[in-house]
Amino acid sequence: MSHWNRCHGRCSILVCPYRAQHRGTRGMAVSWRSWLANEGVKHLCLVIWLSLNVLLFWKTFVLYNQGPEYYYIHRMLGLALCLSRASASVLNFNCGLILLPMCRTLLAYLRGSQKVPSRRTRRLLDKSRTFHITCGVTICIFSGVHVAAHLVNALNFSVNYSEDFIELNAARYQNEDPRKLLFTTVPGLTGVCMVLVLFLMVTASTYAIRVSNYDIFWYTHNLFFVFYMLLLLHVSGGLLKYQTNVQTHPPGCINSSRTQSQDIFLPEYLSENFHGPLPEGFSKPEERNQKTFVKICLEEPRFQAHFPQTWLWISGPLCLYCAERLYRCIRSNKPVTIISVISHPSDVMEIRMVKENFKARPGQYVILHCPSVSALENHPFTLTMCPTETKATFGVHLKVVGDWTERLRDLLLPPSNQDSEILPFIRSRSYPKLYIDGPFGSPFEESLNYEVSLCIAGGIGVTPFASILNTLLDGWKPYKLRRLYFIWVCRDIQSFQWFADLLCMLHNKLWQENRPDYVNIQLYLSQTDGIQTIIGEKYNTLNSRLFIGRPRWKLLFDEIAKCNRGKTVGVFCCGPSSISKTLHSLSNQSNSYGTKFEYNKESFS
Ligand SMILES: Cc1cc2nc3c(=O)[nH]c(=O)nc-3n(C[C@H](O)[C@H](O)[C@H](O)COP(=O)(O)OP(=O)(O)OC[C@H]3O[C@@H](n4cnc5c(N)ncnc54)[C@H](O)[C@@H]3O)c2cc1C
Ligand SMILES: NC(=O)c1ccc[n+]([C@@H]2O[C@H](COP(=O)([O-])OP(=O)(O)OC[C@H]3O[C@@H](n4cnc5c(N)ncnc54)[C@H](OP(=O)(O)O)[C@@H]3O)[C@@H](O)[C@H]2O)c1
Repeated sequence: MSHWNRCHGRCSILVCPYRAQHRGTRGMAVSWRSWLANEGVKHLCLVIWLSLNVLLFWKTFVLYNQGPEYYYIHRMLGLALCLSRASASVLNFNCGLILLPMCRTLLAYLRGSQKVPSRRTRRLLDKSRTFHITCGVTICIFSGVHVAAHLVNALNFSVNYSEDFIELNAARYQNEDPRKLLFTTVPGLTGVCMVLVLFLMVTASTYAIRVSNYDIFWYTHNLFFVFYMLLLLHVSGGLLKYQTNVQTHPPGCINSSRTQSQDIFLPEYLSENFHGPLPEGFSKPEERNQKTFVKICLEEPRFQAHFPQTWLWISGPLCLYCAERLYRCIRSNKPVTIISVISHPSDVMEIRMVKENFKARPGQYVILHCPSVSALENHPFTLTMCPTETKATFGVHLKVVGDWTERLRDLLLPPSNQDSEILPFIRSRSYPKLYIDGPFGSPFEESLNYEVSLCIAGGIGVTPFASILNTLLDGWKPYKLRRLYFIWVCRDIQSFQWFADLLCMLHNKLWQENRPDYVNIQLYLSQTDGIQTIIGEKYNTLNSRLFIGRPRWKLLFDEIAKCNRGKTVGVFCCGPSSISKTLHSLSNQSNSYGTKFEYNKESFS
């Protein structure tokens, strides 16, 4: 029976997708249970992070607004002082945090199931990229506030220049051009440079640039190091000073050399001398009795710059990040030995290699560096085969999509016979040097830790699942997984050949072990004029699982929910972002079978 007939006949998991392609998910109730499982912890962390930002901003604002040690500088600079310092606190906090989600080796280590025992906590690591972006956006917003406030400060330093507090002035004389403060002081100049660097980094991080020219994004993003160096210089300038002797010179006190007498009539003195908020311990003149004792200055006010707090915030994360980069450099400085390079249909190439002491878990990815292709570029690829205790070989499948993959293909594969030819391991064949950095963690690692997993791949997005399937081929018993739904959508029939052998082998093995229901394979050919099959008799098993058109996601989810009542199904998706969005939203929908779908988001672009 052809797949077409099967579709119209007995359709268990699938309702034939050929004509009615269900793409919308509107009008469905969101299950709070599913939502909480999928989004709850993430939102809780977001609330904690947000509260810390608000708290830091508010505490710093109040301190600079009311703190006696800032009385004189506040009188000189006004509200802009409080805004500049409060925004600086938020910036310090986020400049430290933003580096943590980029410590990929550390995250991969934490993800190892023994280190973080709770799956819910491990799933938080999937949000690392989102968190990095959130911190980045916060840095941009508060940099805007900080810059605007400091521009006003520069103006106020110049206008409110005071002969009485020479130490406190940043300007050298009254009405000094504030632009001079910007371009001739260390904090001013470094601030201007930081704004430029940040502008470059932000504009090059937009989706359009990342997709059209990833290298621009990558190189400008590495300017972060310049940014941090400038930041450390910026805060060491010490233009804003606090008063060190508030005990012997209570802020706004009466200068004893001027009054000599301790018994004076207060309202007149205060209205004469105080225009802004009164220092702590003083109340408004009209509220006072006629004769009050006021504090007398025992000495002149002294001022000093703070020890730069920024160091405390960023030194830890910066050292951690640098240590991780150094470790990665050392770990990746030995090239791999390429065992074989296999050409697959539809411009895909497989590289099989070995490297001493290289260990990886299924679902992880590595970063490839081939100096003969490009001295500076590094590209991530998911492992499709992981090394095991019995075999050291591991591999990646690369789709040729751009200049780097194209040049690598030209170097590794001879120009002729690039289609479907398996090149045997030839000792004399010399391959260019290839380095790998990694492995790094990904959400797909979790798929073996659910009792039921739904793995959905679009095109070359199949790679993380290939390593999962390869691992199951070696043995499924050690893992929690007891049922795997594997859905793979491709545009052309040849693409299925990338892993057709693997799928057939796994299917046969599970049948032999009397576990035919362990893996449920469904292949979708999204674009075709008619019925097609994967050529080769040995692939008949797969042909009977081949469907035409896109999957009908809602029906698929309903069927899986029905078959796994009351269970938690882990949903994993790798492929075009439109599939990912649809599945994410479907995972949050309610169903009448009490089945919970936990969506595991991939955290890289
Ligand atoms: C974690 C991860 C795992 C991946 N696994 C695989 C895999 O197993 N098989 C596979 O064929 N492809 C995989 N990719 C995609 C692969 O990295 C890109 O196709 C490759 O880098 C393209 O390089 P290029 O210069 O040939 O093409 P380009 O034309 O330069 O880029 C094509 C697209 O790839 C992305 N890209 C380019 N360079 C990078 C980079 N250094 N880092 C991240 N994205 C980049 C850009 O979004 C760009 O739009 C993976 C990507 C990521 C992020
Ligand atoms: N993270 C990783 O490990 C990793 C690895 C490799 C690739 N990737 C990513 O995976 C993506 C896949 O690359 P590709 O070029 O091979 O894919 P592709 O050919 O563009 O698309 C693959 C298939 O997905 C189908 N599809 C797209 N949107 C869909 C939707 N909403 N519902 C159902 N089916 C849908 C397409 O159907 P139509 O023909 O109908 O459009 C097509 O058959 C890329 O974006 C790549 O960056 C990620």
